[in-house]
Amino acid sequence: MNETILRDKANADSRAGAKSRARTRRIHLELTDDNVAVVTFGSSNKTANVLDEATLDELHLAVSALESLKPDGVLFTSSSDSIFIAGADLKTLANINGERLEHLVVKGQSAFSRIADLPMPTVAAIHGACVGGGFELALACDARVASRDKATRIGLPETMLGILPAWGGSTRLPRLVGVPAALDAILSGKLYRAGHAGKLGFVDAVVPREHLLESGMRILREGAPFRKKPFWKTNRIVSAFVSRVVRRKVLKKSRGNYPALLEAIEVVSRGAAGPVDDSLNREREAVLRLADTPEAKNLMRLFFLQENAKRFRFSESVDEENLPAIERVAVIGAGVMGAGIAQWVASRNIPVLLRDIDRGRVAAGMENIRKLFSAATKRRIFSAHEARSRMDLISPSAEPVSLERSDLVIEAAVEDLAVKETIFADLCERTRPDTILATNTSALPISDLGKAEGVTHPERIIGLHFFNPVSRMKLVEVVVTDFTSPEVVERSLNFVRSIGKLPVVVKDSPGFLVNRILMPYLIEAGRLVDDGYAPEYIDEAMLDFGMPMGPVRLIDEVGLDVAGHVAATMREAFGDRFELPKCLGDYIRDGRLGRKSGHGFYRYDDGRAVKGHPGGNPAEAMSKPELSDHLAGLMAKEARLCLDEGVAKCADDIDFAMILGTGFAPFRGGPLTWSGITKND
Ligand code: NAI
Repeated sequence: MNETILRDKANADSRAGAKSRARTRRIHLELTDDNVAVVTFGSSNKTANVLDEATLDELHLAVSALESLKPDGVLFTSSSDSIFIAGADLKTLANINGERLEHLVVKGQSAFSRIADLPMPTVAAIHGACVGGGFELALACDARVASRDKATRIGLPETMLGILPAWGGSTRLPRLVGVPAALDAILSGKLYRAGHAGKLGFVDAVVPREHLLESGMRILREGAPFRKKPFWKTNRIVSAFVSRVVRRKVLKKSRGNYPALLEAIEVVSRGAAGPVDDSLNREREAVLRLADTPEAKNLMRLFFLQENAKRFRFSESVDEENLPAIERVAVIGAGVMGAGIAQWVASRNIPVLLRDIDRGRVAAGMENIRKLFSAATKRRIFSAHEARSRMDLISPSAEPVSLERSDLVIEAAVEDLAVKETIFADLCERTRPDTILATNTSALPISDLGKAEGVTHPERIIGLHFFNPVSRMKLVEVVVTDFTSPEVVERSLNFVRSIGKLPVVVKDSPGFLVNRILMPYLIEAGRLVDDGYAPEYIDEAMLDFGMPMGPVRLIDEVGLDVAGHVAATMREAFGDRFELPKCLGDYIRDGRLGRKSGHGFYRYDDGRAVKGHPGGNPAEAMSKPELSDHLAGLMAKEARLCLDEGVAKCADDIDFAMILGTGFAPFRGGPLTWSGITKND
């Protein structure tokens, strides 16, 4: 663009332009010397470019100016370093329905249709998040060019919120890339890197960021590189066939629990072959129906709960500005969790010291870490070079070394209070007094560690409870004892967020929050097996309910011995409702420890559960819906107790933690919302 000097001719040239100058705060329209209009999204006081009502009004004004100015081309871009357009304003979307929602949908659809109808060529020059409505705007342009930058992510995630793209995305994407690829993107809600988006045909060119505008200008002058139109992929017969196949697959996976997915299949496949306006009408009707469903409301709430987890403060009295960052971490124990945590922390560019009691264990931990990096490389999260350099940030140690340089130590040794007490006393001798000492214990009382002999400065002791597998589970319970200082809590929260995880603050009490609520559910599943229910029947009932894995399989995954150990700790604290089911004790005695031993409730062949498990059900068996109500009801009951006892500070935190920590059916809103308890005090 530096070949041209931009000047603010639009505003001087037309009344519409003058009008837009008066009110334009989020969108700027300028004309270059060679008569190209550059429409820039972004304002100085907003971090995220979102399409709220006011921005859409401005966009309409800008389009009016373009219609009257008739420039030779239009380039849409943004002034933000990390966001092209982050999509519709979800705060508004979550709080309106009926006529107001329809009004908003129509306003967006008509703005984008006007862009699509502009007589001159239009190009979207995309750098940063180009999400939902942002991508729909780009799709209304004649061509798209994206920066090859990590910040650039392109996609339509609306179905993850229980709705569908209704500003033309469900109509224009299939026309651009065909029904199969459009459905893939819309049903998965994936955000694609620029390179991937280029391969899929979502954008016409991918260029270095510094060439983005220049490249957009060139496309305006010379046209986009030729691309074959996917005619057969939008053909009516092909669309109907694809729709049937995809629908069957989606129903199998979602068990019919996500209506947005089915609506999206219908809108995309039926709309691809007919007139654009018919398809836009279908989008609009579908989104109005979906926005009113409990599924959409719960999924949107989950979105806001996650946003809140990214920024809430534990204590306003702590001077956030001057908190020392965590720059070096030590992890004690290189087993399943220690290796997982060390790998994750290093993957976020933080140096880690990994310590275990002997060389063999350290080597085994490092081998697991290598496998984790290699898997991440295969999934294109890192290049081979990046993976190697992150791995190099881990210093393995089988010797007791000084930890003077560590700002945080995470203990992930065996689940044995005496062992952990000894480790903590030793850590106090090797660390600075301001080093945070965290434990990853699943259920042991963290306060006891602060009282152990040889432990000094208990105000720096905290629980950082990661979930297994660390690389896939986003939640970390931040467990606060009576003596943990607010500053240590805030620094720990900052650390958890800095490594891309989401924290929930919980009180130090047996099982903390997630395991405490989960345990009665797992134990009851075992008791039902005692009563003669087939494990597969129980698991199927909970899969139908929307859990990612049935409870019996989950015990096998966790390990029967580990589950038994956690249950025993909790029984001591809370009594009989945590009593081990008979079968669990029997299986543990027989060495049936779950998947890791090849046999638990299920048999495992090459790590996979063998299907067709024998066994019937008792004569008066509950139906699957009755069974899932019964089992999920136990979680809700325990969640209620946790709320009353102040284990978490509010119902929102409990629902959020259960969805992120256990996969509790997200569309049901968490155990408390599902059971009708929404009290947040
Ligand atoms: P693990 O048995 O795989 O690993 C424990 C490691 O700690 C072993 O390598 C052992 O050699 C080492 N260790 C023992 N004493 C040590 C010492 N004095 N100094 C240094 N290292 C020592 O156990 P896992 O599963 O990794 O669990 C670790 C901790 O994380 C436990 O407290 C557990 O309750 C907790 N946890 C486990 C989860 C899981 O799913 N496995 C999930 C969340 C927490």
